[in-house]
Amino acid sequence: MSDPGDLVVLRQALVRELETINHYQQLMDRAVSVEVKDLMRHLMDEEKEHVAELTALLRQGDAVQDRMFVEGHAEAIGRGKASPLAKPSAPTGSSVPGLTVGSLIGTSFA
Ligand SMILES: [Fe+2]
Repeated sequence: MSDPGDLVVLRQALVRELETINHYQQLMDRAVSVEVKDLMRHLMDEEKEHVAELTALLRQGDAVQDRMFVEGHAEAIGRGKASPLAKPSAPTGSSVPGLTVGSLIGTSFA
């Protein structure tokens, strides 16, 4: 399967699944009871399964996308070597030590 139309469908579905994961996360955070929190977590985990299924099919149909996994880009991020969620150290030559775009993630400027 490498039909360009199918690849678009897979990517759009992937976007929706990722958005839905965020939505369930927000609902889980808002929920008060353990029972409702657990249900939201369960639903969110199911969406993560769908992400994995869509990604697997996308890799089968898109050789360039697959190569990005084969070459280890995903592993580098997934194992924290280049995690965008981790506080990165300042790149060499930075004029403001310790300050990078990545270090501003989650920072409130209000
Ligand atoms: Fe889903």
